[in-house]
Amino acid sequence: MRVLGLETSCDDTGVAVYDSDQGLLAHRLYSQTALHADYGGIVPELASRDHIRKLLPLIKTVMAEAGGELDGVAYTAGPGLAGALLVGAAVGRSLAWAWGVPAVGVHHMEGHLLSPMLEADPPAFPFLALLVSGGHTLLADVRGIGDYTILGETVDDAVGEAFDKTAKLLGLGYPGGPAVARAAERGTPGRFYFPRPMTGRPGLEFSFSGLKTAVATVAQAQELDPRTVADIACAFQEAAVDTLRIKCQRALEQTGHARLVAAGGVSANARLREQLTEMAAARQTRVYFPRLEFSTDNGAMIAYAGALRLKAGQHETAAFTVHPRWALQKLGVPGASR
Ligand code: KG4
Ligand code: ZN
Repeated sequence: MRVLGLETSCDDTGVAVYDSDQGLLAHRLYSQTALHADYGGIVPELASRDHIRKLLPLIKTVMAEAGGELDGVAYTAGPGLAGALLVGAAVGRSLAWAWGVPAVGVHHMEGHLLSPMLEADPPAFPFLALLVSGGHTLLADVRGIGDYTILGETVDDAVGEAFDKTAKLLGLGYPGGPAVARAAERGTPGRFYFPRPMTGRPGLEFSFSGLKTAVATVAQAQELDPRTVADIACAFQEAAVDTLRIKCQRALEQTGHARLVAAGGVSANARLREQLTEMAAARQTRVYFPRLEFSTDNGAMIAYAGALRLKAGQHETAAFTVHPRWALQKLGVPGASR
């Protein structure tokens, strides 16, 4: 089955064609970073308009590269920005209608969750998943497609949001994650220390708003010269990564899983990859990441998740809808009665 995947939930226009026999055939990403940079964050209306401008030309390019006929269309139906989601949903549903093929709305976080399966030597079910993005931070017990139990999630900010806010406080610009990571590399560990929130008590919940406040307090008390910025970035990254590592280890102990999947934008972080790999190796656990380019938003993960669901017989009616807020655990197993 050959599926066109469209991702327009936020500030990236992602398009890909995935074939369940031949694998990923073509994929392209157009990033709106430059468009939003002047505003220090994403402006939803500008995001929607830019998706409208870029989506169809990108689809043409990707389809020309992939060649052949399509058997289905998958688009991100949520969670995300309503207007941005509607662009992908309207275009995806309409193309599927015109071509006489089924369409399916994909959950963005399920896309992230399954993204390591696009790699050679993919993880087998069941596994523990750490999903870390700009809007989500959660640990899930994954038994199969749609068969997810959330073991813990953030009670306030997502870890990606904490990276973005720290970048802003340190004058590192947008998008924050990669900028903080770059600054952290030049930092001296140990000059500053930030708390590892909620690690001192049992449970798998996360909280990152206190960490952000701790960074703000230190940043306001310091002269923000390049060295101090690098040292604060370094201390923040250590605290964030350590917190994620501790909770992953705890969840592995609790569930007994032998496989850990880490995905979503923050899983591009080199220090997180290093820490999780080390922790997993020490307990005979294998850790799986998507390739860097598929850690952050992309169309390939949507084409892949969509292909699995379409293959299992799931598809939308002629109407379409989007879910700006959408709980991952509400998805359900395709084919099972819901
Ligand atoms: O998955 P994603 O591209 O979009 C959402 O679904 O939110 O994740 C974006 C988030 C942003 O908060 C961004 O700052 C963060 O991922 N991010 C990183 C890195 N690359 C992206 N955070 C830390 N280190 C990175 N290298
Ligand atoms: Zn994402």
